[in-house]
Amino acid sequence: MKAMVTTKYGPPEVLQIKEIEKPVPKTNEVLVKIRMTTVSTGDVKMRGLDLPTGQKIAARLFLGFTKPRKDILGMEIAGEIEEVGEDVTKFKVGDEVIASTFWVDLGGYAQYKCMPEDDIIAVKPSNMSFEQAVPVLGGGLTAAKVLKIADIQVGQRVLIYGASGNVGTYAVQIAKHLGAVVTGVCSTRNLELVKSLGADKVIDYTTEDFSKSGETYDVIFDAIDKLTPEQWKASLKETGIHLNVNKHSGGVGRSKDHLEYMFFLKDLMEEGKIQSVIDKTYTFRQIPEAHKYVETGRKRGCVVVIVDQD
Ligand SMILES: NC(=O)c1ccc[n+]([C@@H]2O[C@H](COP(=O)([O-])OP(=O)(O)OC[C@H]3O[C@@H](n4cnc5c(N)ncnc54)[C@H](OP(=O)(O)O)[C@@H]3O)[C@@H](O)[C@H]2O)c1
Repeated sequence: MKAMVTTKYGPPEVLQIKEIEKPVPKTNEVLVKIRMTTVSTGDVKMRGLDLPTGQKIAARLFLGFTKPRKDILGMEIAGEIEEVGEDVTKFKVGDEVIASTFWVDLGGYAQYKCMPEDDIIAVKPSNMSFEQAVPVLGGGLTAAKVLKIADIQVGQRVLIYGASGNVGTYAVQIAKHLGAVVTGVCSTRNLELVKSLGADKVIDYTTEDFSKSGETYDVIFDAIDKLTPEQWKASLKETGIHLNVNKHSGGVGRSKDHLEYMFFLKDLMEEGKIQSVIDKTYTFRQIPEAHKYVETGRKRGCVVVIVDQD
């Protein structure tokens, strides 16, 4: 099969198409023929490892010293089940599925991926295309997981900072679904988008610093990890909760909770209560170009990739 392999750490050009062996499912696994994957901010960070020296060494100890151990990136996939292991009971050949490869060594930039049936994998909601569904178990799962910490109550005032990013666009919709009064913070060009996702109020960070307005919130979710402590502290109610996408989404490994979030999101998708914001769609060969775009830090929602099977 074909895979887009990260040959070493570096610029997008280190991503190269290679012919590798097609995986064979173990008894508890399904083989997914991938139709769509995504290029996430996380993929771009792992490829480039563009960090200060101290952090770079720590990251290399974890991710692989001279080249990435997980050399096929891609954290989210959507596709069809082509084969099932003999002990698989939840899925059958032909099922259309979505999955997060985060806890199974990534591997979305390829034509096939084996997934254990008990991992983060679900039948794709029939009302959503592969393209619409593929990002949900990445940005959506992260937003659901982090917001759960705040146990949002109906009527609470929630501020989502970075509301136009992948995590942010889902966070606005999830907070709204939970009954919060939602304020989204984004730039001028994204005001209409964030409003269309259900935000009650949008603040343009290029013209207004929300922390200077005197307004306070029950929950402040920094969905792009850019707020200073001074900013969120100035606007948080005394009993309020501050959430940060990188500090509070930290993986302690997959758990039953993740399956809970997955089914929560699947229900919301089936009820038409959340939508994915797709900024751009690239072909498999264009993955390096997609990396260049995501690296700008300006994408709105998600960037998806069509995995052709030729
Ligand atoms: N995606 C995931 O599943 C996931 C999971 C865990 C952790 N994370 C982490 O979460 C963070 C966000 O990732 P993401 O993919 O959701 O976001 P992203 O798509 O990379 O965020 C880009 C968006 O943020 C906006 N933005 C840029 N600077 C801003 C600022 N100063 N204030 C407010 N908005 C700003 C950009 O629009 P403008 O430039 O026009 O404002 C753009 O729409 C990253 O650190 C990532 O590693 C992501």
